[in-house]
Order: sequence, then structure tokens, then C-alpha cells
Amino acid sequence: MSLDSSNAWRLVSNRTPTAVLISGAGSNMVALIEAAQDTAYPADIQLVISNRPEAAGLRKAEALGVTAICIDHRDFGSRADFEAELDAALKAHNIKFVVCAGFMRVLGKKFVRAWSGKMINIHPSLLPKYKGLHTHKRALESGDREHGCTVHWVSEGVDDGEIIAQSLLNIHANDTEETLASRVQVLEHRLYPKALAEAVTKD
Ligand code: GRF
Repeated sequence: MSLDSSNAWRLVSNRTPTAVLISGAGSNMVALIEAAQDTAYPADIQLVISNRPEAAGLRKAEALGVTAICIDHRDFGSRADFEAELDAALKAHNIKFVVCAGFMRVLGKKFVRAWSGKMINIHPSLLPKYKGLHTHKRALESGDREHGCTVHWVSEGVDDGEIIAQSLLNIHANDTEETLASRVQVLEHRLYPKALAEAVTKD
């Protein structure tokens, strides 16, 4: 919002101020920021936070004109202290919605409760299958014929919240962990912007 006192007019944006939490490459974050460059998109991505200073996504966010900061979890004595700092940074930037995109820290109950209904995550499997790590390997080893990704609300259980949207692919006979990972990421980059738009306008 900006206020011009000389002319007494005010521009009010009804887009939701949104932050993206990352730990690494940030390819999903880039897809989200690009979607939000359209001023008709309901989320306005104003902040990126990484828990790792070396995360390539930090520089990508800056290049796209989004404020990017690091809160290194290793600087804190406990998970609770790290999350208190995370929460304070989000509030200091007036953030109202949080998107986890390759954020590799499990979030504690207090933080999850504080952001309940305002925080979503993307997971590279068709939840409820394969919560946690190594999802592509597990799908291949199980002989699955379908695989994909899921956007869900963040709840207290890991990768356990209510599902918002999923995107599916067929597993090919010659797929490897690597080919599946890159094929699933293509789906993620299409799905996450749509799912965020849906989630942020749910009320
Ligand atoms: C994605 O595959 C996401 O599903 C998982 O971590 C990966 C992050 O990739 N949670 P990127 O950092 O968005 O490129």
C-alpha cells in the first residue's frame, strides 16, 4: 500500500504478502516468483528465506528482484530458537502466507500451529505414498506405474497435511531415479503456482 498525502489517494493491493522458504536450488521458488510477476496473481512474493547461506536459490531470488535473506539454522542452539527467528523475520516483513519449496528442515509444532492454514509445501511423491526422502527410488523399487508430486497444507506430521493438488506421470520402463526426479520437477513447476493461487484464496 502507498499513501500520497499531498493528493490524499491510496493504492491498496489485495494480493497476499507471501514468503518462500528454501534450502537449495530454488527452481520451484523461481516458478512461483515468475507466476507472481503477473499483478493479477493473488500471492505477492515479497521475501525468500533460506536456512543455508550457500543455497543457489538466494541469488536467483535477488536476480528476480525479491528480498532474499539467510537464517542459518546452525547459528541457533535449538530448533525452537531457529524457528522463533524465522517467525520474527516473517512478521517483520508483514508476511501473511508461507510457501515451503525444497525447505529441508522439519518444522516444530509451535511454528506449524502459528502458521496453520497459511503454510503449504510441495513433496515429490503422490502422497500419502512415500513421505520423507528418496521418493523416486522408493517408487521405482515398489514397481509403481504412476508417480508425481503433491502440494499440501503443512500440519504437525511430516508430509502429512491435507492435500491441495497433485500432478501425475507414468513411470517408463527405462526410468531411473534421475530421470524421474527431473520429470517430476517439470510437473512441480506447473503445479505449484496453480496450487498456491488456490490455497491463498481459499477463504
Ligand atoms: C523439490 O523436488 C520438492 O518437491 C522437494 O525438494 C525439491 C526442491 O527443488 N521438497 P528446488 O529447490 O525447488 O529446485
